[in-house]
Amino acid sequence: MTPPFAASTTASLPASAFGVAGIELVPAADVDLATIAALAERIWWQVYPPIIGAAQVHYMLGRGYALPSLRSAREAGTRFSLLYLGPYPAGFSAWQGGVDAAFIDKLYLLPALHGCGLGRWLIEATCRQIAIAGHDVARLRVNRHNRAAIRAYGRAGFSIIASDCLPIGGGYVMDDYIMERTALNALLLD
Ligand SMILES: CC(C)(COP(=O)(O)OP(=O)(O)OC[C@H]1O[C@@H](n2cnc3c(N)ncnc32)[C@H](O)[C@@H]1OP(=O)(O)O)[C@@H](O)C(=O)NCCC(=O)NCCS
Repeated sequence: MTPPFAASTTASLPASAFGVAGIELVPAADVDLATIAALAERIWWQVYPPIIGAAQVHYMLGRGYALPSLRSAREAGTRFSLLYLGPYPAGFSAWQGGVDAAFIDKLYLLPALHGCGLGRWLIEATCRQIAIAGHDVARLRVNRHNRAAIRAYGRAGFSIIASDCLPIGGGYVMDDYIMERTALNALLLD
């Protein structure tokens, strides 16, 4: 289902304008992976070409978001969730548990909905899932030139703990910061 949102009608609205009851982060079933792939296709082509170039977007989408890749990640324990605004899928997140921290592998919101607090809501809801699963620390990778996402994570309590340039095949690298948020258990006290 395609959300009928346009940047001009949503960009300045606070998340609360949608009504708390209308925003949900719902664990994804196998059947939802096609929706996640479709959202990724829309979001990546709007956000990443200026950051990593079109060729790398094409390569990484093909590698990470083909249905067999998503399915095997899910079967290996990655927990995918869809962000719904009412009936409309508007973003998604995915994370895995680890020994000393959980790793947030994916966190994406449709660009028409950036800048109104929904990204922050998605980060908090994902961290809450992680805390409920018993992890007190979350880590993630974010491209060093993805300033909007770095700012959003910083506002949500993540700090940069390292830089890492990871070869991913095809002659490409992921030139990332590693960011970490601690004390997630505090989210369960609210
Ligand atoms: C990461 C991501 C989910 C964050 O979402 P976001 O909408 O940018 O983040 P926020 O909800 O924190 O909002 C960002 C801006 O809106 C402003 N804002 C937040 N709540 C607001 C409100 N109620 N009213 C008006 N403005 C608001 C913030 O002050 C911030 O402004 P700034 O960037 O000028 O400082 C989003 O940028 C995204 O999906 N990016 C593409 C995918 C991506 O890069 N993912 C990360 C991969 S590691």
